[in-house]
Amino acid sequence: MAAPAETVSRDSVDSLSARFARVRNLSVDLVATLAAEDTVVQSMPDVSPTKWHLAHTTWFFERFVLETNVPGYRRFNEQYDFLFNSYYYTAGQMHARPKRGLLSRPTLAEVLAFRSHVDDHMMRLLDGQDVAGELAEIVTLGINHEQQHQELLLTDIKHVLSCNPLQPAFDPDLPVPASRPVDSYSYVNGASGIHQVGATDDGFRFDNETPRHDVLLHEHRIGARLITNGEYREFVADGGYEKSTLWLSDGWATVSQEGWSCPLYWSEDLASEFTLGGLRDIDDSAPVTHVSFYEADAFARWAAARLPTEFEWETFATGKPVQGNLFESGYLHPVAGGDACQVFGDVWEWTSSPYSAYPGFVPLEGSLGEYNGKFMCNQMTARGGSCVTSPDHVRTSYRNFFYPHMRWQFFGIRLAKDGHV
Ligand SMILES: [Fe+2]
Repeated sequence: MAAPAETVSRDSVDSLSARFARVRNLSVDLVATLAAEDTVVQSMPDVSPTKWHLAHTTWFFERFVLETNVPGYRRFNEQYDFLFNSYYYTAGQMHARPKRGLLSRPTLAEVLAFRSHVDDHMMRLLDGQDVAGELAEIVTLGINHEQQHQELLLTDIKHVLSCNPLQPAFDPDLPVPASRPVDSYSYVNGASGIHQVGATDDGFRFDNETPRHDVLLHEHRIGARLITNGEYREFVADGGYEKSTLWLSDGWATVSQEGWSCPLYWSEDLASEFTLGGLRDIDDSAPVTHVSFYEADAFARWAAARLPTEFEWETFATGKPVQGNLFESGYLHPVAGGDACQVFGDVWEWTSSPYSAYPGFVPLEGSLGEYNGKFMCNQMTARGGSCVTSPDHVRTSYRNFFYPHMRWQFFGIRLAKDGHV
C-alpha cells in the first residue's frame, strides 16, 4: 500500500499543533509497507487490527476534543462511535473487542478519510490560538494515547504476520542490529532508604504515575544490563520449562496448558525468531524478548535472583538515556549497543510489583477516568519502554501494565538480588 498523502501540515508554528501533526502523520507513515488486507486481521483477542488502531485513535480526538470544543461539530459517521470506542463505558456502548477483526467495513480508505476529517478540524481548532488549560491537556493526552497505539500497532502487526505461514515481513529492509560482546552478568548496588518515586512536575504524565510519594527501599542490587537471548537459551537447555519448582503455580499451569518451551516467536529448534523484518537468526547477544511475567519470574528463580520491584527499577533508571529504537534508528528489535544499562528503548522490563494505585491516587474526571485506574487488579507493572516505543514517550515514572501470561509485547528481563555487596 502506498503511503497516503499527508493530511496535516507540518508547518504550524504552534508547538502543540506541530506535535499533533507529527504524531498523527507518523501513524499513517507506519502502515506504508502494509497491504490493505494486512490491516484488517485480528490474530487473537489481545491484538487489534491495524485499521482499528488508526480509527480508534481518531475517535478519541473526535469524541473527547472536537465534540466538546467545536460548537456544532458533526461526527464523520455516527456509527463509528460504537465501532471505535475501546473501553469507555461512560461514553457509551462498544463493539466487542474480540470481534474487531470482523470489521471488513469501514474500509481502510474510509478510515483514512475519517482521519483526514478529524485532523482538519483539529488543526483548525489548534491553529491560530493560544491553546492552554483543559484543551491543551486533553490534546496532549490524545497525542500520548496515539503514541501508545503506534506501539500497539507494531506489536500487533508482528503477531498478525507471524501467524501467516508465509512469514511476511512488516518491513524486510529493517536492519539487523549489530551484536556486541556481552560481559558476564553483573549487578550494581541499588539505592536504599526512603526515596521519592512517581511523576515529577515536568512534562506529561498519566494519572497512574501520580502522586509522587515516598517509598522505602531495602538494600538490593540490580542487574547492570538486560538478560540476553544466549542466557535465556541456557535456561531452556537446562530444562527450565520442565521443572515445576522454578515456576509460580499460575505460571506452571499456563506453561502446561499452552505447551510453552521457549519465548514467543522463537523457532522450535531455537535457531531463528520472527521479527518485524521477517525470520532472522537469533542474536545471542540481544536482549531476550517476548517472555511473559511467568517466564521472567521462573528465569530469575533459576538464576538464583529475583525481578526488581518497580521502585527499585525507577530509582535505577533515573537519568539513564534512551537507546536506539525503531522510531529513531530503524532498529528491528532490541538493540545490544549504546549505553550498557539498556533501560529505555529495548524492552519493557517485568517487575515484581502488582499494578496498583499510588497513595492518594485520583483518576482523571469524567470518561477519561477509565483510562488507567480501572485496570488496577491482577496485572503486573512493566517499566522502561521498548524498541517500538517512541523515544519521546518514555520516562522514568512511566508505568505499563499487563496480565502475567502475556507475551506479545516486547517484554524482557532484568534481575535483582537482596542486599548490597
Ligand atoms: Fe486507546
